[in-house]
Amino acid sequence: MAASASSSSGGEPDPNSTNLRPASTTYDWCGVAHGCTRRLGLKICGFLQKSNNLEEQNRFVGSFKDRQSAKNLLACQNSLRDSRFNRNETDFSNLYARDLLPAKNGEETTMQFLLEVVDILTNYVRKTFDRSTKVLDFHHPHQLLEGMEGFNLELSDQPESLEQILVDCRDTLKYGVRTGHPRFFNQLSTGLDIIGLAGEWLTSTANTNMFTYEIAPVFVLMEQITLKKMREMIGWPNGEGDGIFSPGGAISNMYSVMVARYKYFPEVKTKGMCAVPKLLLFTSEHSHYSIKKAGAALGFGTENVVLLKCDEKGRVIPADLEAKILDAKRKGEIPLFVNATAGTTVYGAFDPINEIADICEKYNLWLHVDGAWGGSLLMSRRHQHKLSGVQRADSVTWNPHKMMGVPLQCSAFLVRETGLLQGCNQMCAGYLFQPDKQYDVTYDTGDKAIQCGRHVDIFKFWLMWKAKGTVGFEQHINKCLELSEYLYSKLQNREGYEMVFQGEPQHTNVCFWYIPPSLRGMPDCMERRERLHKVAPKIKAMMMESGTTMVGYQPQGDKVNFFRMVISNHAAAKSDIDFLVDEIERLGQDL
Ligand SMILES: Cc1ncc(COP(=O)(O)O)c(C=O)c1O
Repeated sequence: MAASASSSSGGEPDPNSTNLRPASTTYDWCGVAHGCTRRLGLKICGFLQKSNNLEEQNRFVGSFKDRQSAKNLLACQNSLRDSRFNRNETDFSNLYARDLLPAKNGEETTMQFLLEVVDILTNYVRKTFDRSTKVLDFHHPHQLLEGMEGFNLELSDQPESLEQILVDCRDTLKYGVRTGHPRFFNQLSTGLDIIGLAGEWLTSTANTNMFTYEIAPVFVLMEQITLKKMREMIGWPNGEGDGIFSPGGAISNMYSVMVARYKYFPEVKTKGMCAVPKLLLFTSEHSHYSIKKAGAALGFGTENVVLLKCDEKGRVIPADLEAKILDAKRKGEIPLFVNATAGTTVYGAFDPINEIADICEKYNLWLHVDGAWGGSLLMSRRHQHKLSGVQRADSVTWNPHKMMGVPLQCSAFLVRETGLLQGCNQMCAGYLFQPDKQYDVTYDTGDKAIQCGRHVDIFKFWLMWKAKGTVGFEQHINKCLELSEYLYSKLQNREGYEMVFQGEPQHTNVCFWYIPPSLRGMPDCMERRERLHKVAPKIKAMMMESGTTMVGYQPQGDKVNFFRMVISNHAAAKSDIDFLVDEIERLGQDL
């Protein structure tokens, strides 16, 4: 194994030891430099690292002395230490995990290994944005299970070499799907944000747990600050309220049902559902299945999740809600909770929140807004009116991992009344949430969660918000909506397309049928419907086999399979929309 090239001055003092640090070293000067504007600071730091002349350094530093800070000293010290490692040609075939840190003398091998991993990852990142690369290299499950050349999914009893581990890293990415590719439109969560990626790397490096301030002080505070900012955007006075980041929109929606039940029937926590009458949840027939799932998981029963009718654009009909509430009351059942969706999964429809809120106030029901997909439009001054009335909700789900391009997973559950989340979920485990810690234990937020250990989902989001500003998210959202408007108008005037619903979509969802030439002109009949039902799955299968692009399809109600185009990827451009349309036609013209 070749020795690493060293560019540091060596023998650095311990950053944690104040008495060891000499009065005047490159670290002090770099600390000063870091206190300057970033560009100037980097220049000074570069100069100081090169310059060995103490007098010259001292003169330089004198003029900036007042900006010195301990934080900056450490930052520069770390950069000096890191620069000792340059990638070299290491033979990993005889090296194993046991040779990595904390192994004795494992530092060099560890750094070389990690530099190789970074190389694999950065190559992947580069290719992701390269339109000449495929979105995916599709293989059937049995092919991957049988093993590809050099890539075997079976687990081994004996350790494999680091060389094999690096191959495994590379091949895992090779046979996966590039969800950040500009032509990946398959899911609501797409895109590869570089700052978000950096945040995710840092999060894994820190490898801590959100349950207590004790072990995640910075992340816990970031979560508090970010949730408050989100509540301000919802419009709750002074951003008051509570919230938590959860493992996804489905779980956030489940939190909403739990908290609503706790608000009206706290006895369920101790006595169970047998202590209360039959409770009903209301949600639209276009809403996400997670509301039904919450009904099943929390003991309401799916039959007690009442589905509300929608108009042709997928928005709930408020009169149907009121009629069903009255019907339930007549039968002696207890309406408890109403979900209004802001951005439905398939049509991208926004339920009329104000009208639903009026009904919820009238009958004293909990109003939840599932903004997993559409909540992010609150960041856009042009589009936030679509969530008009959201400030009247008792709770809101908002997934930054969808429309805002934050890496998975990142979903916020927000609740207007403080104390409910804690009251509903807390178990006060003495070994984790000791009340007599030396700090303010209200920052031990873990007992609000239904989980024990909780992943740090906040950092990448917080970092992206810092890096882009609110305006950056706003521009991203506006751009995605503009692209979907472009697609919508393009399809209006094109032969061979039918829209699933009339009028401009409210979100980036554009739902359409591609009608192959063989079906054009055929009157609407059973045979046409059956044949049309097969078109989207066939085109999708060919798309995946050729690896050129990906878009979702599904049936909805009595409507046969249609394409649902969604745009949340910041890499997508008009040319990618054009490509998708051309590709559908290329693959579908002979069907
Ligand atoms: C409206 C809506 N709510 C909830 C969810 C669930 O979100 P997650 O996949 O993060 O659990 C989705 C997912 O597509 C959704 O579209």
